[in-house]
Order: sequence, then C-alpha cells, then structure tokens
Amino acid sequence: MEDVIVVTGGAGFIGANFVLSWLEEEGRAIVNLDKLTYAGNLRSLEQVMSDERHIFIRGDIGDRACVEGIFRMYRPWAVVNFAAESHVDRSIHGPRDFIETNVLGTFELLECVRAYWTELSSDEKRRFRFLHVSTDEVYGSLHPNDPPFSEESRYQPNSPYSASKAASDHLVRAYGHTYGLPVLTTNCSNNYGPLQFPEKLIPLMIVNALELKELPVYGDGQQIRDWLYVRDHCAAIRMVLRGGRPSEVYNIGGWNEMKNLDVVERICGLLDEMKPRADGKSYREQIRFVKDRPGHDRRYAINASKIQREIGWKPKETFESGLRKTVEWYLNNMEWVNEVRTGAYRDWIEKNYGSR
Ligand code: NAD
Ligand code: TYD
Repeated sequence: MEDVIVVTGGAGFIGANFVLSWLEEEGRAIVNLDKLTYAGNLRSLEQVMSDERHIFIRGDIGDRACVEGIFRMYRPWAVVNFAAESHVDRSIHGPRDFIETNVLGTFELLECVRAYWTELSSDEKRRFRFLHVSTDEVYGSLHPNDPPFSEESRYQPNSPYSASKAASDHLVRAYGHTYGLPVLTTNCSNNYGPLQFPEKLIPLMIVNALELKELPVYGDGQQIRDWLYVRDHCAAIRMVLRGGRPSEVYNIGGWNEMKNLDVVERICGLLDEMKPRADGKSYREQIRFVKDRPGHDRRYAINASKIQREIGWKPKETFESGLRKTVEWYLNNMEWVNEVRTGAYRDWIEKNYGSR
C-alpha cells in the first residue's frame, strides 16, 4: 500500500469525521488506531468498515509494540494525532486518564515516530509529517475585550484537560526543536457537527430537548465559545498536512463567537421549527440554570488569520448553516445516539472482537 497515513483516535468525534472526509476527498488508504474508550464508536465508521482503504486497529497510542508494528507494516508518510481524553467535566472528576493518554500516550507515540522517522531515507524524512491536534483551551480564558488567541498567545491552561493538552503540545514542539522531527500543531476552537458524543454542549442539548429533559446551562450561560463546524476543521487539517511548515503552529477557528445561552436558544428555535413539541410549547421552557463548572473558562476565541494567509483555509459553514445541518443529523440519527450512549454497540464489539 502506498501513500498511507495513520490517524489516532479516528473512532471519536473529529477523528471519525476526518476518516470519512479523507476517504471521500483524498481516496487514499488510512490506518486508524483507536483504543475505543467510551468516546470511540465504530458505529460512526460503519459505512467504511468494509472499505479496504480503511484499516482499523484497536490499540493504545501508549502501546509501543502496537504502534511500532503499525509503522513497520504500513510505512506511513504522516501521522495525525487526534487520540485524547477530551471532556473538561470528566477531567475535573477524574484527571488521571487525561495524564495517561494526553501526556504519557503522546510521549510514547512521539518516541515511536522518532524511531521510525530516524530510519527513513532522506527523501522520506523530508516528506514525513507528525500533525498534533490540539485545542484553544491551552491559552486559558479571555476577558470580554481581549483580542482573540493567536499563535503567540501565552499558554495558561486552567483545567486538568487543557493542562494535559498543553503538556502534549510542549512535547511535540520539543521533538521538532531537539530531534528535527517534522511536526505540525493545530490549536482549534470548539467543534460541533454530526457524530459528537452526546455529553458535549450542542448534542447534549439537542438530545435532552427531544427527550423533554431539562437543558442544563452552567452558571449564567454568558460564557463564550468560538464554534467551528467539524468538516471545516477536517479540511483545515488536510490543508495543514500538505501545506504547513514544519515546527509551525496553526490556530483554527470559526470566526464565530457565541454565548452558551444563545447557542441553546438557537437549538430550541431550530427544534421548534423542525420537530415541534406535541404540546405546542417551545423547547426553551426546558432551559434550567445549574451550578457552574469549577474554574469555568469565560471566553475562548481564535484569530485564524495565519492559516488563511499562509495556507488559504477559511471555514465554509456559518453557524446558522452548520447548526441546522447538525440538528437535522441528530433528528435522523437517534439510533446512533442511543447505541453510543448506552454503550450497546461497544458491548457488541467487545463480545464479537474481544477474544479474537
Ligand atoms: P473524542 O473524545 O470524541 O474522541 C477521542 C478518541 O480517542 C476516541 O475515539 C477514543 O477512543 C480515542 N482514544 C482515547 N484514548 C486513546 C488512547 N490512549 N489510544 C488510542 N485512542 C484513544 O475527542 P474529539 O472531540 O474527537 O477530539 C479529538 C482531538 O481534538 C482531541 O485531541 C481534542 O483534544 C482535540 N480538540 C477537540 C475539540 C472539540 O471541540 N471536540 C476542539 C479542539 C481540539
Ligand atoms: P463543552 O461542550 O463541554 O466544551 P468545552 O468545555 O471544552 O468548551 O462545553 C461548552 C460550553 O458549554 C462550556 O462553556 C460549558 C457549557 N456547558 C453547559 O452550560 N452545560 C452543559 O451541560 C455542558 C456539557 C456544557
């Protein structure tokens, strides 16, 4: 097989969208290494599970023997690292998994990449890329009138999640600087779209609304996030992989700052139009203000001019078009929601593949 890339975490939200879009847009083989934690679901990749260009391997980025075996067998020209523990609230309740995967896992992966890259021919070495997918949360929280985060913003992570991602970003940078490994880092704002596990804000609100449950808004709901449609993010990563300069960082954002409460109200508005409540009332009636998240970052916003200037990427979707697509997708895919939420599909995979 030629022209193969390896992605990690390709059964998660962004990774699965990336795998699907890679096969659609590039048509080249992709090896997908994923541990299948609660956040990883092969159900999301059902349509490509029998496509010979998609090679799925269940494994941990921290398992050197597994990663080395993959590199030996497939000889990729690039590795894109999506694998991570990614939910801030979970990191507050139990940070250990975040340190294990995001810090130690990335370290082990980098060690394998370094060993593999060192043995490549000089042409292959020049072509090789390690792209690390990170987050705007490493830059901390903005005040209302601060300029958006740029690639030069200071690292000030506030949650165990963002601290663990910051640590991984530093390791990636150091491997570029010290060993000359051709690394690229992207720091992205909040993604939304199809296939997002329904514990994050947007899918949780859609699903709770439809199930006539409360819509829990943390604190005063005035926190701001910069929303980016997931397929726009995938396109940006593909472009950075091809056109990014080694050791550079690229911020990726939606130019789309929005208060949480406004996001929830827009979701309610779309659902009122697309699937009105039987009693004729608005889904807005289900909104409840609940106790705030400890250490809750007030505002994130990304200045995405560098990637536009140097690589020519900018988002295609507006929040309006992207949110409509997203709500529509969830309305049509409640079976997916139920399976990933109960773990039913994962249990089946365990039963079917666990002892093979
Ligand atoms: P996700 O939680 O939906 O998926 C993570 C995937 O990684 C899952 O499939 C999981 O099984 C897998 N995984 C976890 N630990 C692993 C390990 N040790 N080895 C192999 N696989 C493992 O996350 P996501 O939202 O798709 O985010 C992907 C990446 O993008 C993460 O690195 C995250 O920090 C970053 N990011 C996410 C957002 C966002 O809004 N979702 C924004 C910016 C950056
Ligand atoms: P989330 O989707 O967890 O992403 P992140 O914390 O990484 O930005 O949350 C997005 C915003 O929505 C964040 O400010 C927390 C808030 N939020 C709620 O108000 N209620 C909820 O039930 C959830 C999950 C999040």
